[in-house]
Amino acid sequence: DVTEKWPYRHYMQKEIYEQPTVVGETLKNLIHAADRTISVSQTAVGLDLAAVQAVTIVACGTSYHAGMVAKYWIEQQARVPVNVDVASEYRYRNTPMAAGSLMIVISQSGETADTLAALRHAKAQGQQVLGVVNVPESTIDREADATLYTLAGPEIGVASTKAFTTQLTVLACLALALAKARGQLSPEDERRHVEDLLQIPARIEQVLTHDDKLQEVGRQLMHASGFLFLGRGAQFPIALEGALKLKEISYIHAEGYAAGEMKHGPIALIDEELPVVVVAPKDGLHEKTISNVEEVKARGGRVVMIHTAGESTGVAADFEVGIAPCGEFAAPILYVTPLQLLAYHIAVHKGTDVDQPRNLAKSVTVE
Ligand code: G6P
Repeated sequence: DVTEKWPYRHYMQKEIYEQPTVVGETLKNLIHAADRTISVSQTAVGLDLAAVQAVTIVACGTSYHAGMVAKYWIEQQARVPVNVDVASEYRYRNTPMAAGSLMIVISQSGETADTLAALRHAKAQGQQVLGVVNVPESTIDREADATLYTLAGPEIGVASTKAFTTQLTVLACLALALAKARGQLSPEDERRHVEDLLQIPARIEQVLTHDDKLQEVGRQLMHASGFLFLGRGAQFPIALEGALKLKEISYIHAEGYAAGEMKHGPIALIDEELPVVVVAPKDGLHEKTISNVEEVKARGGRVVMIHTAGESTGVAADFEVGIAPCGEFAAPILYVTPLQLLAYHIAVHKGTDVDQPRNLAKSVTVE
């Protein structure tokens, strides 16, 4: 029964724990597991992926953060330029649209008013629109030219968790499908990335084993009046999503920042009171992120480091959470879960209404 939260205390907690299953289910529709290849092009019926010259991604809230990750993936893999915008800005910007571009709208509910308006605007300009939607038969599903479904199942907690990781799963496969259709993806890279994606459910399970540790980190940091979240590359939107989760359910002010941009402002906030959560897997940008962590430590900031297990980071963080090694491409799907758990535990420690945070709605169907 999807509406039963037992044995969990909150729907959000249940939905965090469902992620290994629903990411695995979502993947089944998008790849051929037996030969380690992408099968999206057959699923996205009617869209000519090879002809796509540019991509515009429009969404709101957590779905917007999934779109930001997709920008990194699509540009890197498919070599197609990508614009990402929040729907409330996009719909009134009257932006010129080049022929041969594809619009991707991302929406858990499929009913968000601004996202729907952006879709209608694009269709009126003759654009192809692909929806990434969790609710079949929702308005965005019906009006988009094609839909790729996230198989997250009903999401009840207002703060989105499993919808986000399944959106990332779909978008990762779509990026690879676009790359393949455009002749940009070697068979070796396709196999390697698909293998990494197939490992993600088991690796999320491993992240969930850090639950007690994150509960304790949350207990020690729950009285902070603000948090900073830092990341680079495709982990930058993950930092934004970590900050959004914390704001939504714990009512603590939090800001996500590109780690390299910290010196242009947020560094002025750093003192012994400010926890700084750093998403720092061992990837191509790791050294650069670590030098930002050193800048934080030099100013007395309290650092929570989410990093690759077994790899020395070279800096003494106040709290460390080691994540099982995984390929750089798929890593953003994995690194958001510790941030979801941290926000969840801080909210529980503070006694807020985790599943129904004040002033927020699950689906914003009016402007
Ligand atoms: C609301 C929800 C968020 C969600 C956003 C976009 O703000 O509280 O969790 O990310 O809407 O919703 P959508 O259904 O379009 O993904």
